[in-house]
Amino acid sequence: MVNTFPPGFLWGSATAAAQIEGAAHEGGKEDSIWDAYARVPGSVAAGDTPDRAVDHYHRMPEDVALMKSLGLDSYRFSTSWARVVPGGRTVNAKGLDFYSRLVDELLDAGILPWLTLYHWDLPQALQEKGGWTNRDTAHRFVEYAEATYEALGDRVSHWTTFNEPLCSSLIGYAGGEHAPGLTDPRAALAAVHHQHLAHGLATTRLRELAAASSRPIELGITLNLTNAVPNDPTDPVDLEAARRIDGLWNRMFLEPLLLGSYPADVLDDVRDFGLAELIEPGDLETISAPIDFLGVNHYHDDNVSGHPQPASARPSLKPTAKPGRSPFPGSEYVSFPSRGLPRTAMDWEVNPDGLETLLVRLGREYPNLPPLYITENGAAYDGDVVVDGAVDDPERRDYILAHIGAVARAIEGGADVRGYFVWSLLDNFEWAWGYAKRFGIVHVDYDTFVRTPKASALAYADVIRQSKEAD
Ligand code: NOJ
Repeated sequence: MVNTFPPGFLWGSATAAAQIEGAAHEGGKEDSIWDAYARVPGSVAAGDTPDRAVDHYHRMPEDVALMKSLGLDSYRFSTSWARVVPGGRTVNAKGLDFYSRLVDELLDAGILPWLTLYHWDLPQALQEKGGWTNRDTAHRFVEYAEATYEALGDRVSHWTTFNEPLCSSLIGYAGGEHAPGLTDPRAALAAVHHQHLAHGLATTRLRELAAASSRPIELGITLNLTNAVPNDPTDPVDLEAARRIDGLWNRMFLEPLLLGSYPADVLDDVRDFGLAELIEPGDLETISAPIDFLGVNHYHDDNVSGHPQPASARPSLKPTAKPGRSPFPGSEYVSFPSRGLPRTAMDWEVNPDGLETLLVRLGREYPNLPPLYITENGAAYDGDVVVDGAVDDPERRDYILAHIGAVARAIEGGADVRGYFVWSLLDNFEWAWGYAKRFGIVHVDYDTFVRTPKASALAYADVIRQSKEAD
């Protein structure tokens, strides 16, 4: 398997600011929407908050040393907008200083910094002005991107604008299961369009800034993509449901970015929710500014039916979700029956072949597809226990190795995949699930913050080592 990875293939791990940093109100940081949302009773399991998270803010050098010990080539992290521009307008030098120290530490360790500007933590001050429903937020995002580039652009070459805009638009503004916790489909579609716009504006601006200082830059975005598989491929009702889900979850994001237009069938599906009315002349040209890579986050496929199923078969992102309510505009009658595959602790099916199919399919369907990076893949399982300084997590290890195998097969099948980032380096704040779901390849004791690499981390380090020996 390791021989199939092209020379220079990037091996990394990923995290996000709100999930690991803690220090929610230190160094000038103010509330992000996740700080505010987590304080609303019932929003996050067990009343957990990102206040301390896993204390990465204070343990950053130790965490970089861990990455180095595993042999990582690259570390994908996000900057917190609410740390860098806490009120949405004025830059906080202390906030930028933290990321500057992180970048230096990474470079000293020989690790490529891979920076994401938006991993869901909008300053609460901007939410109070409408958040992503307000077109002006896209312009505030460009200012935040500029300030971050000014501080770090001399050392960071790989920039991602957004992580999984689907989640920070549809799930946050319509599903009510992520911050800011709204249940308004019109607001969700406005958030989709304004995040696209913010991506395009920032991409153009960062490219100008890099050119003006003659620095190399690689710009991209990360989408969460799945195969929407019809439960019964001979049933027109299931085929139609799969088309809808593929449209809303995949094509509504891929097509504006890569083709410069929203898919006509999706515009029709969501015609009651005001998306078309928000598009101003020139927007789609801005949104489809060329990118250098596409980040793909993939955990599972979606087995889709158009027939009613018990509430338990509906997608749910947190334990307190209202049964039977669909977070996705226009998809009320879609359900996700089990097809009997093994499941992770998130109740997500395990099907590595889906990743291979997805990667090969993307190349076939989008002729102008830029190189791909798997920017997230990994699994939560229950039952991690530290015994004598070790954690045996065979299910997570097998999940990761099987998906790396799927990436290898996709490359053999013609997909241009240049790197793989495991989610996640550390156990962390899993959004509405709080600390209940552990995705880390490194265990974190939530009382002492002691870090212990799990067997999955050691197996991943072996893959990296073997792949380098084969280079
Ligand atoms: C995708 C998100 O980007 C990340 O923040 C999250 O923790 C993982 N999925 C697992 O749910």
